[in-house]
Amino acid sequence: MDKVRHLIEPLDFTTEELEDLFKLADKIIENPKEYAHECDGKILVTLFYEPSTRTRFSFEAAMIRLGGNVVGFSDPDSSSVTKGENVPDTIRIVSGYADVAVIRHPVEGAPKAASLFSRIPVINAGDGGHQHPTQTLTDLSTIRSKFGRLDNLKIGICGDLKYGRTTHSLVDAMSRYENNSFVFISPDELRMPAYICDELKQKGQTFKEARTIEEGISDVDVFYMTRVQRERFSDLDEYERVKDSCILTPEKMKLAKKDMIILHPLPRVNEIHPDIDDDARAYYFRQAERGMYIRMSLLLHLLNLAGDFCRNNTASEHEVVIAEGEAEMCKNPKCITANESALKHRYYVHRNGVKTCDYCGRIIE
Ligand code: CP
Repeated sequence: MDKVRHLIEPLDFTTEELEDLFKLADKIIENPKEYAHECDGKILVTLFYEPSTRTRFSFEAAMIRLGGNVVGFSDPDSSSVTKGENVPDTIRIVSGYADVAVIRHPVEGAPKAASLFSRIPVINAGDGGHQHPTQTLTDLSTIRSKFGRLDNLKIGICGDLKYGRTTHSLVDAMSRYENNSFVFISPDELRMPAYICDELKQKGQTFKEARTIEEGISDVDVFYMTRVQRERFSDLDEYERVKDSCILTPEKMKLAKKDMIILHPLPRVNEIHPDIDDDARAYYFRQAERGMYIRMSLLLHLLNLAGDFCRNNTASEHEVVIAEGEAEMCKNPKCITANESALKHRYYVHRNGVKTCDYCGRIIE
């Protein structure tokens, strides 16, 4: 029986596997009709515990364009989640109805928990402030389409680096390619989490931090803008204080390189001035469109319809340890283990001895 592969974080795929995904997405863009029946008879289930426009619609459109069908919910209140059904039971049930599942959840590690109980591939469509790997596939594919490579690039990441899960996934993914460097631009309150900066330091990765766009924009190849995530703040006064701290304007764009590209996972609020939409460097709308094609490629790969992808070893296979005592348990209050008490705490030990939660990725201290 073929191995079931999941996509929970970008590192689940090797860089060679990612290249396969990007190449197939490019072929689909060139000739979409050739793929119109590749998923005939297949069913995608979308479990969206949080709102979405791009991720849900692009996944649904991807499956329909491949000839398959879609079931699911866009609001958990319309499902038996309201009766108290947990993530493991929900995925156990839909595993019998569909061929592949996409899950977005406000709790960090929920898609990982789902994958442990699933008989079908599970795709993480965003889990709290943790990861959003299919956005990262979209981002990488867009960068690759512009520069023809994913190495030797300087990437500025701006805005809500604390809660912005797309920024965390992007850093994980781009730090695997040679000679990339990062500029993290944010107010102090929204800095990149320490555990991510620590990982970068341990890998010897070059990065610097800046407080303003003017300080950080001048020599980057990619400027990755993000929205301040109001929904993740427990203190709304703090949100009000920081929400307008980084806004990209035509004036600030004068400081940027002529061949830089601006990416944004979208939705935007006010952080990119609308006049920039007509600038040739504004790539965010075509980035969102590319997201559908990369998701078509991903579905074909995970459904074993694109060569022997799913029979390969996974990139992220690692020895997982079940926590035995309090000291080995994840303390992140936003982790799925804090929300679903029946789940066993799991962690893995990195080469340097650091332990991280297998669900939410936080260091266990
Ligand atoms: N980029 C992104 O995840 O957008 P949605 O929240 O609309 O899916």
